[in-house]
Formats: sequence, structure tokens, C-alpha cells
Amino acid sequence: MRRIAVCPGSFDPVTYGHIDIFNRASGLFDKVIILVSSNLAKQPMFTPTERIKMIMDVTSDMDNVVIDILDGLLADYVRDVGACAIVKGLRAVSDFEYEFQMALANKKLYPDAETVFLTTSTENMYLSSSVVKQIAAFGGDISSFVPDAIRENIMSRIANVNKI
Ligand code: PNS
Repeated sequence: MRRIAVCPGSFDPVTYGHIDIFNRASGLFDKVIILVSSNLAKQPMFTPTERIKMIMDVTSDMDNVVIDILDGLLADYVRDVGACAIVKGLRAVSDFEYEFQMALANKKLYPDAETVFLTTSTENMYLSSSVVKQIAAFGGDISSFVPDAIRENIMSRIANVNKI
């Protein structure tokens, strides 16, 4: 049986922390679907299509990884593709309550899939897309948080916003 995992997130944009999770998930499952999803609580910097393009660029060496976009409930998507797991990265205690709540809700909506938490690598403990965008917006160096192409996209988006 092919074991399919779904790795959902906003990925606005993808960081080294996400890439680490994708890599490790791709070693654990036969197929990993990175699912660019909407989080109603967040105001995105990039469109879903832009985020997909950036993820494609940084996962081109991962043979069993595909990227898709979610326009609906995660649990329905997981059922429709026959996935057995939802993979999420867990950084710190502060992530836990929110992630635990989502895992329980998804389990209730679709009991046949498990949420699997991969603890983040220690060097990425503090890393999030929001922190990266904030550092960039105030002129900080984000080169150790995201690949070069992503850094350029963030910088040009910030420059365009500042022109308005
Ligand atoms: O990277 P994020 O923003 O923490 O990811 C959260 C995300 C996108 C995975 C979550 O908001 C989600 O699953 N959205 C899809 C809609 C859905 O199913 N919501 C209910 C989740 S319990």
C-alpha cells in the first residue's frame, strides 16, 4: 500500500524550516503532497500561485513530492486523495495548543488519517514566515532563513508595497 501524507500550510513564503519538514516527510512516506492552504486568520504577502511556484523551485530534488492547492476543508482533501497522514512541523510549546486543536478537529472530521508532528530542527526553532517577513520589512538580513530566490521575492514585494 502506498502511504500518502499531506503537508498543509500557508507557506507565505516557504522557509528553510518548511523545507526541512518536507525533506524529512519525503523520507517517511511514499508520496508527500505539499498543500498550499488558506488560513483565514492571516493576510498573505503572496498569492497561492506565487507560493506554489516558490515551493516547486525549492523541492525540485524531492522525487516523491507534489504540490497542490486547497480551496476547502483539509479533512475532505485528505480523504479524497486517500492520505493516511497529515504532517506538520512543531516548533515550540507555543505552537502546541493551536496544532493540537487542529489535529483533534481534523481527526473528528476524518478519523482515518493521523496527524504526525515532526519536531523542528533546533536551528529552525524560532523560524516562521511571519518572523522572516517582519525582519525583511525592517531591513534585516534574511539570507539564513530562506533560499536566495525566495529572499529576492520578499525584498521585491516589500519594495513594491513601500512605493505605494
Ligand atoms: O501554516 P499555517 O497557517 O499554520 O497552516 C494552517 C492551515 C492552512 C493548515 C489550516 O488553517 C488549514 O488546515 N486550513 C484549511 C481549512 C481547514 O480545513 N480548516 C480547519 C482546520 S481544523
